[in-house]
Amino acid sequence: MFTPQPTDDGSYTFYSEEFDELFHSHSGAKQEAQYKFIEPCQLKEKAKNQDNIKILDICYGLGYNTAAALDNIWTINPNIKIELLALENDINVCLEAINTKLLNDFSETTINYLKILSTIYKVQDKNLNAQLLLGDARQTIQTVIQNEFKADAIFLDPFSPPKCPQLWTVNFLKFVSQCLNKNGYLATYSCAASVRTSLQLAGLKIGATRSIGRRSPGTIANWNGENLPPLSQQEREHLQTRASIPYRDPNLTDMADRIRERRQKEQQTSSLEPSSQWKKRWFHSQTT
Ligand SMILES: C[S@@+](CC[C@H](N)C(=O)[O-])C[C@H]1O[C@@H](n2cnc3c(N)ncnc32)[C@H](O)[C@@H]1O
Repeated sequence: MFTPQPTDDGSYTFYSEEFDELFHSHSGAKQEAQYKFIEPCQLKEKAKNQDNIKILDICYGLGYNTAAALDNIWTINPNIKIELLALENDINVCLEAINTKLLNDFSETTINYLKILSTIYKVQDKNLNAQLLLGDARQTIQTVIQNEFKADAIFLDPFSPPKCPQLWTVNFLKFVSQCLNKNGYLATYSCAASVRTSLQLAGLKIGATRSIGRRSPGTIANWNGENLPPLSQQEREHLQTRASIPYRDPNLTDMADRIRERRQKEQQTSSLEPSSQWKKRWFHSQTT
């Protein structure tokens, strides 16, 4: 059972006891979908210029990112065909979001599609082909690759790296990057140096999505580096510290503890600057 928790933009999220974390930031579940995922992936621009859009939603959860994508795209171009693959390992989250009417701010069409998706895991209609792949995303990503699905937009939305390192490892992200088409964007809310480095090691170029209010920036990535808002000097220096050491999971089967320990050991023997020094330097320069 998940209890709806209000966020600052008036939309609701859930709290996960398993991960000891909210499913969205306090500042707003709906805003997060819009500003950390939909806008950075340029979905509205793509909707104007394409007649088909492919989306990979990693960690579908309550369905906010998918719902926001469908509504944004069809508002611009009601005739466009959307192909969606969503990865999630806990169907109860998807069902409870529907049952508690958390998504009722989205259009009726979108809500109905999400209901079907959460109930029979598949939607096949004139403007939407969607499938919910249930299970550990480290395994289901292999199905996405076998299907040769190349997304215009990938939403990467696991719980935070310290809580769910399995889905932020360089090994997993290398598979994820194989699912991005040559003009596509991958967006995530995380600005962690380890995540950014892993995306680079997966061959992608990265930029920062701008922070709104007090929220920290996220990350947007693509293959060619075009149209990416550049990282600030502070962010670039962060990538030279021990915080940038990636999480690793060579066989994509390790438990979170094992992945965290492996990274900690690598950090302890690293010659990179400790990130506490980087923090002090930037805090000092901002307060003098
Ligand atoms: C931060 S929430 C995602 C929120 C969601 N994107 C939304 O818009 O509502 C993270 C989700 O990842 C799921 N998850 C956790 N571990 C997973 C795994 N190994 N494979 C697939 N999904 C996982 C959780 O059940 C949870 O729904």
